[in-house]
Amino acid sequence: YRILLLNGPNLNMLGQREPEIYGSATLAHIESELRHHAESVGVTLDCRQSNAEYELIDWVQEAASSKVDYIIINPAAYTHTSIALRDALAGVAIPFIEVHLSNIHGREPFRRHSYLAELAAAVICGCGAQGYELALRAAVAKLKQRDN
Ligand code: DQA
Repeated sequence: YRILLLNGPNLNMLGQREPEIYGSATLAHIESELRHHAESVGVTLDCRQSNAEYELIDWVQEAASSKVDYIIINPAAYTHTSIALRDALAGVAIPFIEVHLSNIHGREPFRRHSYLAELAAAVICGCGAQGYELALRAAVAKLKQRDN
């Protein structure tokens, strides 16, 4: 299987950015752990991060032609603002899991709403970096179940 991991704006700053909320692990560390995990279960994991909305949208669109089976996405602040990212995900019809490091329901009210969640196969929030690993396991399990 091919799985695409997308991280949105400011997640390149993980480790330095509000560590009391987002933890001390860097994105490079999270991605390398995840790649190891993917390798051990025989799936291909492509990891990308951008601060630009259009770039995330371009990658979602490209995912369809590059035969990506599943997307794991932490859209960061675009979660709460981006109808365009939602439309891109709806357009490619690739199943996805939405991940947030923090519990978006226990913070400022504007973080409670996600434009993507309604279309997501699952939403994981509040588990910190472990959320990405949970998402990867769930994605692989869902793909195996689909193909059984
Ligand atoms: C986040 C939560 C968002 O509200 C915030 O804008 C982020 C990170 C998280 O992982 O907890 O940048 O997606």
